[in-house]
Amino acid sequence: MPESKIKRIGVLTSGGDAPGMNAAIRAVVRTALSKNIKVFGVRHGYNGLISDDVFEMHIRSVSEIIHRGGTVLYTARSPEFRTLQGQQTAAASCRAHGIEAMVVIGGDGSFRGALDLSAQEIPCVCIPGTIDNDIACTDYTIGYDTAMNTAIDMIDKLRDTTQSHDRCSVVEVMGRNAGYIAANTGLAVGAIITLVPEKPFDVDKDIVAKMKFTKKMGKRHFIIIVAEGACRAENLAKEIEEKTGIEARATILGHVQRGGSPTLRDRVAGSRLGYHAIDLISQGITDRVIGFQSDDLVDYSITEALAMKKTLDTSLLEISSVLSV
Ligand code: ADP
Ligand code: F6P
Repeated sequence: MPESKIKRIGVLTSGGDAPGMNAAIRAVVRTALSKNIKVFGVRHGYNGLISDDVFEMHIRSVSEIIHRGGTVLYTARSPEFRTLQGQQTAAASCRAHGIEAMVVIGGDGSFRGALDLSAQEIPCVCIPGTIDNDIACTDYTIGYDTAMNTAIDMIDKLRDTTQSHDRCSVVEVMGRNAGYIAANTGLAVGAIITLVPEKPFDVDKDIVAKMKFTKKMGKRHFIIIVAEGACRAENLAKEIEEKTGIEARATILGHVQRGGSPTLRDRVAGSRLGYHAIDLISQGITDRVIGFQSDDLVDYSITEALAMKKTLDTSLLEISSVLSV
């Protein structure tokens, strides 16, 4: 393979962290070094470019991180980077270190930032890292599997007490705009109802009626999963208790879903995506978002990737509804 023309790159994580980001960082660093490309880590996302929190990474800089949640590069949401001045300062910082291209690991907001950095002549390759799995050009985003496994572990525990008390537990999972975590988790825990932002619902028809019907059929406890973008668990639990007479409690799983040691799937996804990002950069291919389609690696221009739309497969909700009676 010919030598890479790009000799110095940067890598950063941005937006919400996701388990498996460390596996991606490790893969970026070690693949780049194997191709004689120098790597500079940027701490705290785009903020670190603006404040020049940049350091050279070596093979051992990424030792003992493949199994760790979070991101060793830290992450941030950077309002300053949304301004032209912030973007110019960030690009100047890249140039000061001789950084010719940047690997951005994050969600679609971070990819919008990457487009702006590219406009300042620092080309980027973007790796999808978010527990939400809401990036349209890829079937899978780093962190999604771990987050869902964390959610089902916790809901299995919750089920014990829900069952003992003959209660209804309304469990709020993450997903402000996307119901992927909720839809899969709901099916995996046997939820009686799963609510997602993508599908409108009627409390009386879709929830109360089903609970009353299944109670008549002998069901004694109920688990309802709601994506945070669909409704607030606390409000729904109150309404259910009033309308059904069944004692209801709300549980918000929250940020714990973003932590923990990544699953095999997230370690493998992070490693493959990190490797692929450098494979592209070493061929001079930049300004791409990479991802998976049917487990094959794919890449799209950042603009094209950001314009794509992803729709939730609601058949999961239908299966859930038939199976949970
Ligand atoms: P995620 O990448 O997880 O979707 P955000 O949407 O919060 O998270 O985006 C992460 C960061 O990316 C923002 O804090 C900001 O620094 C940068 N960013 C997001 N949108 C833009 C934009 N339109 N222009 C420039 N930077 C942006
Ligand atoms: O994008 C990942 C995510 O965890 C969403 O599911 C959630 O709505 C949001 O980030 C929470 O963001 P923050 O960390 O700012 O509370």
